[in-house]
Amino acid sequence: MRDNDPLAAFWMPFTANRAFKAHPRQLIAAKDMHYRDAAGNPILDGTSGLWCSNAGHCRTTIVEAVAQAAASMDFGPTFQLGHPLAFELASRVAGLMPEGLDRIFFTNSGSESVDTALKIALAAQRARGQGTRTRLIGRERGYHGTGFGGISVGGIVNNRRWWQGLPGVDHLPHTHDLARNAFSKGFPAHGKELADDLERLVALHGAETIAAVIVEPMASSTGVLVPPVGYLQRLRELCTRHGIILIFDEVITAFGRVGGATASGQWGVTPDIITLAKGLTNAAVPMGAVAVHRSIHDDIVGNAADGIELFHGYTYSGHPLACAAGLATLDLYHDEGLFDKADELGAYWAEAAHGLRGRPHVIDIRTIGLVAGIELQPRDGAPTKRATELFHACFDNGLLVRATGDIIALSPPLILEKAHIDEMFGKLGDLLERIG
Ligand SMILES: Cc1ncc(COP(=O)(O)O)c(C=O)c1O
Repeated sequence: MRDNDPLAAFWMPFTANRAFKAHPRQLIAAKDMHYRDAAGNPILDGTSGLWCSNAGHCRTTIVEAVAQAAASMDFGPTFQLGHPLAFELASRVAGLMPEGLDRIFFTNSGSESVDTALKIALAAQRARGQGTRTRLIGRERGYHGTGFGGISVGGIVNNRRWWQGLPGVDHLPHTHDLARNAFSKGFPAHGKELADDLERLVALHGAETIAAVIVEPMASSTGVLVPPVGYLQRLRELCTRHGIILIFDEVITAFGRVGGATASGQWGVTPDIITLAKGLTNAAVPMGAVAVHRSIHDDIVGNAADGIELFHGYTYSGHPLACAAGLATLDLYHDEGLFDKADELGAYWAEAAHGLRGRPHVIDIRTIGLVAGIELQPRDGAPTKRATELFHACFDNGLLVRATGDIIALSPPLILEKAHIDEMFGKLGDLLERIG
């Protein structure tokens, strides 16, 4: 049976499908800092698409590199074969990671990177003769994509309400603390001690049962929850003490978002495994990666019998088009100094964002790097509605923001200029006055 509605067939991800299809807002083109809507109006991109087009849109060198790769070898398997672009990109990515995390496994998305990282952590513990370590620890309000691994260690109830996750998973408490930390610029002062909850889980389960802890260095998707001063360092200490592999999910924070190539490098805390995606290819072609400490790689690969050492991979791991996009993207980041932008513009960004303090409904503003979270007072009996309405109002006035719960998140392309910052927060300020 055919459906005459051209919007009917696409079951949209993470979307209120009925509301969207009743009032569709479509994007039809993009260049640099702007999208165009269906009527051709410019929409200033305040979110790098979905935290991913860090170098801005349709950058010529990326477009050309992808076109060339498509024309010369559209696909090449990486199972028992290889092609040069994959090796080249892996070496380039390795060179950007913190010291030691120089073995790179390619995936196609953040969710796959997370599942891959969890599997590598479990495999490493086994290879080390620590096969009783099977427990995985995530954190409340964590977002690690939508695979079964990711929803299990993630801390968003709606993402797993309908699905039973992996067994043997536990969670650390989240670090969001409005009472003590509201309107922080940079790292909030209070909450380092929340990392000590790992000691409670060790006491509860036994360290010999715990394989890995996974956290986002900054929880982004649940509303820009910046880690308290000293928190990540404390988590690192405790994981080392108890033989637990520490995974930082940097799907959002890598590639310049908070300055530097990774939050780990920028903030001086080195995990054992880092997950990547999004900014890796500037989102021009889907790709993810997992950067693994060489010792973990060597324990798994070195201890394996002859043949395949890790039974894991994806048909499109190291896809030539994605590799071409990745190489061109890393060149752009380097040539345009985009990993320095968060430092160069961060103070101006933070001032502008915190300038919204005192506007109607605003109960918190938090900023770090080129990220801002603006938390609104939820409407009585109608949580999330106010932020959704603001998201729509922004779009209709030429600005793309992200609404998550009652929080507006901003994470613009790193090519932005001060005038864009003024426009973003100027529009937001005006629209906050107008929504109820
Ligand atoms: C920290 C983190 N991990 C994993 C993911 C999942 O990535 P993907 O949607 O590419 O599967 C996301 C997506 O936003 C993310 O923010």
